[in-house]
Amino acid sequence: MMKYNYGTDQNKNWIIAENKFSPDTLAKVESIMYLGNGYMGVRSATEEAYIDEDRMTVINGTFNRFNNTEVTELPNIADVTNIEFYIDNERFTIGNGSTNSFVRYLNLRTAELIRKISFVTSTKKMVEFEFRRFVSLDNLHVIATKVEIQTDENVIIKMKSGIDGQQTNNGVQHFDEGEKRVFDQKYLELCQHTTESDIDIVIHSAHKFYKCTQEFTPNLKMEIKRRQIFMNYRFEVEKDNPIHLEKISSFHTSIDSDISGDSLVGLKTESLSRFKEIESLGYDTLFMAHKNKWLKDVWNRYNVQLESEEDFDVLAIRFALYHLIAMTPRHDDRMGVAAKGLSGQGYKGHSFWDTEVFILPFFTFFAPEIARSLLMYRYHGLRGARQKAIDNNYQGAMYPWEMARPEDGETTPVWGAVDIITGEQTKIWSGFIEQHISSDIAFAVHQFLNATGQQDFIDKFGYEIIFETAKFWLSRLEWNKADGRYEINDVVGPDEYTEHADNNAFTNYMAHLNIMIARDGMEKLQRENQELYEELNERLKLSKLRNEITKKIDKIYLPEPNEDGVIPQDDKYLTYDNLDLSVYKQSEAVGILFDDYNLDQVNKMQVTKQADVVLLLLLLEQTRYYQEEITAQLKQVNMDYYEPRTTHDSSLSLSTHAIIASDLKDVDAAYNFFKRASEIDLGPYMHSSDEGIHAASIGGIMQMVLFGFAGVRLKGNLLTINPNLPDKWKYLEFTIYYQGQPINIEMDKELLTVKPINQEQISIKVNEKNYKIDNATTIKY
Ligand code: BGC
Repeated sequence: MMKYNYGTDQNKNWIIAENKFSPDTLAKVESIMYLGNGYMGVRSATEEAYIDEDRMTVINGTFNRFNNTEVTELPNIADVTNIEFYIDNERFTIGNGSTNSFVRYLNLRTAELIRKISFVTSTKKMVEFEFRRFVSLDNLHVIATKVEIQTDENVIIKMKSGIDGQQTNNGVQHFDEGEKRVFDQKYLELCQHTTESDIDIVIHSAHKFYKCTQEFTPNLKMEIKRRQIFMNYRFEVEKDNPIHLEKISSFHTSIDSDISGDSLVGLKTESLSRFKEIESLGYDTLFMAHKNKWLKDVWNRYNVQLESEEDFDVLAIRFALYHLIAMTPRHDDRMGVAAKGLSGQGYKGHSFWDTEVFILPFFTFFAPEIARSLLMYRYHGLRGARQKAIDNNYQGAMYPWEMARPEDGETTPVWGAVDIITGEQTKIWSGFIEQHISSDIAFAVHQFLNATGQQDFIDKFGYEIIFETAKFWLSRLEWNKADGRYEINDVVGPDEYTEHADNNAFTNYMAHLNIMIARDGMEKLQRENQELYEELNERLKLSKLRNEITKKIDKIYLPEPNEDGVIPQDDKYLTYDNLDLSVYKQSEAVGILFDDYNLDQVNKMQVTKQADVVLLLLLLEQTRYYQEEITAQLKQVNMDYYEPRTTHDSSLSLSTHAIIASDLKDVDAAYNFFKRASEIDLGPYMHSSDEGIHAASIGGIMQMVLFGFAGVRLKGNLLTINPNLPDKWKYLEFTIYYQGQPINIEMDKELLTVKPINQEQISIKVNEKNYKIDNATTIKY
């Protein structure tokens, strides 16, 4: 059972807890309480193993492809979290004895996982365990565990702990057998080498034992097996004389940017010497540094303060911030954010449009340097995107729907869930024809420039992304002679329940937008930076691109609203039958529609998986091109039309609906969408996050706060603020970055205060009124 109000006093609304151990729902807790620092992610499996656990450690960027019939994935690296205890020769496992009390919780503020158990053995001895664990934000390579054991009678404890490389990705083993060794009867070392991508990983672990504060050395037996290395310790715990033990471990890889050597020997030597230093510091010192980093670099920096009548709302926002930090690589721009962060094997560690449309906007406004690094990942990805375009007979850069290593190109698996009618696996078309990802990335680059003003990024990297994606679209357009227009046929739009759609409005408008941004970027370059223009012209053939744009841009088919004001999702959607979705909408589980229908049938219904046209309106409105067109009326009509037809089976859906509902001043509906979105991972449903948390939904939580309730939005490059606080919210404060300057924004139900911290003048628009401010300015709204 999850408990969301476990924290009190200074921990109020900082704790997510489970207060009854449930062996059937281990996976959810492992995911939502996982520990990560952008470099690595470790699912929060308990120390002792259980049958349904899904133990996992991954390191960002270490992708490996098992063979040609499988796609590349983030391998499950050797585990250091498993520790088995035997109490008087009886294995410690909840179920073997009885449990007086149990709690497992994640403290979001300090990013520490804690578990306390009062356990009674079959011979009625009471043993109290307290486990603590963290993955350091201060030293990204480090994970540490501390265990305290206290008993009411003397017991003999046997403990088996080490480094276990027998982990797999659902049965797939990604590593060759590597060297294993113990140094000084203390430092364990295990090496792994990925079978295809040629990456070395070196893992170290060491244990320390204390009685009171006195270190002691238990009886020890070392054990080496295939892909495993263990220490077997034996010691006595005397009645009322607690002992505590620490296990410190580190992970280093040959792709780490902070490792100097390029040979395995060098990696081993450097990482071992670093490890000895780290290990000597001990849990408490390492934890202090980690905790201070979270306080300073996360909680103080992002400074999101909410006063709400609902404590859960405060927790939900902190939960989102916690996970955004845990999942996002800040240390290396060759890496992206995966759809499940670093929290589970779902989606294999791949990055989707989830990053650009749902996660990046948070970083663009709150931590532009991280947004820039994520966009660099896409810049490096131009290699794979160009190859994908060539493979499909197009030009420019066609970004993969799922991206792993930047050079990989497309990594979407081809076969998916079972078809209820035929019993065969359903083909996943996204990797072939879900193409809007290319314009989503171009849009994100454009938005990044508008928000940050970082022209140097655009000059060095952004233009290339924009021009190359525009080239792709221009080569992708299909001429319809009869209607005298360019079309984009046979695609999957955001609504993945409609496959092989012709002229999906989202895809067409976003492609057109991509081309407009390229056209205007080229003009600006020519005007302002002739030298760079010449250089890019030479390399990217801009003159040719310009001719193509001139020839085609005004003839691209952009589906207009029909007589009722509804923008047709695609050519056929509005002609299909409706389906009563009420039973499906009430279900906690997603995709249950497919227990009754197969995809071919759903394809021909007015059923939408997730925000599609509604999302389009949200994105277009943020550009200067669509200021006039996206009216409240257009939003209302399309929301009213599409929302009842939307199952929200994708976690990417609710946040967009919350923002549009906020725009329409339907604050109750917006708040309701917010609640439901927050409950995707944090709610009572115990299987929603088995394969990992929902990264885009978590990014969406912050978008609902920023774009929706605070009403902060870019329109072109103008900062607009139209607050729509829900009834239960009394006060909201945060600090965003706009044009390089931190801007503190505070609001209650009546007053909005905007404070440019560096006192540089900015233009803002609040509820249709323009202001120029360079100091804290309070506006009654
Ligand atoms: C959604 C996609 C999303 C993917 C990864 C799918 O279920 O339909 O839009 O990119 O999940 O989160």
